[in-house]
Amino acid sequence: MARERLRLGVNIDHVATVRNARGSAWPDPLRAALLAEAAGADGITAHLREDRRHIRDADMEALHAGIGIPLNFECAATAEMARIALRLKPHAVCLVPEKREERTTEGGLDVAGDVARLTDYIAPLRAAGCRVSMFVGHDARQIEASARIGAAVVELHTGHYSDLHAEGREAEAETELAALREGARLAHSLGLEVHAGHGLTYDNVAPVAAIPELRELNIGHFLIGEAIFLGLGPAIEEMRRRMDKART
Ligand code: PXP
Repeated sequence: MARERLRLGVNIDHVATVRNARGSAWPDPLRAALLAEAAGADGITAHLREDRRHIRDADMEALHAGIGIPLNFECAATAEMARIALRLKPHAVCLVPEKREERTTEGGLDVAGDVARLTDYIAPLRAAGCRVSMFVGHDARQIEASARIGAAVVELHTGHYSDLHAEGREAEAETELAALREGARLAHSLGLEVHAGHGLTYDNVAPVAAIPELRELNIGHFLIGEAIFLGLGPAIEEMRRRMDKART
């Protein structure tokens, strides 16, 4: 299968994390999003968590009004988030599991175990024109359920692969990668657009970016960290370069 250009969605949550650490107004997530856009990002992702630990409601409003590239509104499938998403009508809504105690989104969404509720949950979002994405593991049941409920997109969770790679467990990372490839193939065959993300870095991005069915990667924490050393624009440009190289 021909490899189309991969889109890069930049997640700016952790600009807000740094801001909130001091209760100040800076660094400003909108400014980061505009810099990312200027550096070639194809979209901006922001996760409005129930506890508002990083992105806040006003950030989401400012991003929605201020950026010229698609906004991917990441949230848990709660009534409160549906109300906000239906008011803003962002380009995309990515549904993720959320636990209060977790440091980051730990696993994929259990779509297969919640088919009836999620079908009803996403119907008004779809009617409002949002591309609804399910953040899932590579498990065939979850991918098939995502197609069944009418989602347009699945985003495959690369966190486990990233952890194995970081720990030097190469054989296990390769097995996980093979499962991600298989999941991408299945999702594509079911008519889903396939995205991936979580824990991606310069060192581990290439084999993921090379998966032909993928259309988009969403990357946040590493890029915001790397921006301390390189600046946000150059950090994004380097990721873009590695993604493009992996697809040639
Ligand atoms: N995609 C989803 C659905 C996520 O929840 C996250 C983390 O917020 C990311 C991508 C980006 O992960 P990271 O910050 O580790 O790059």
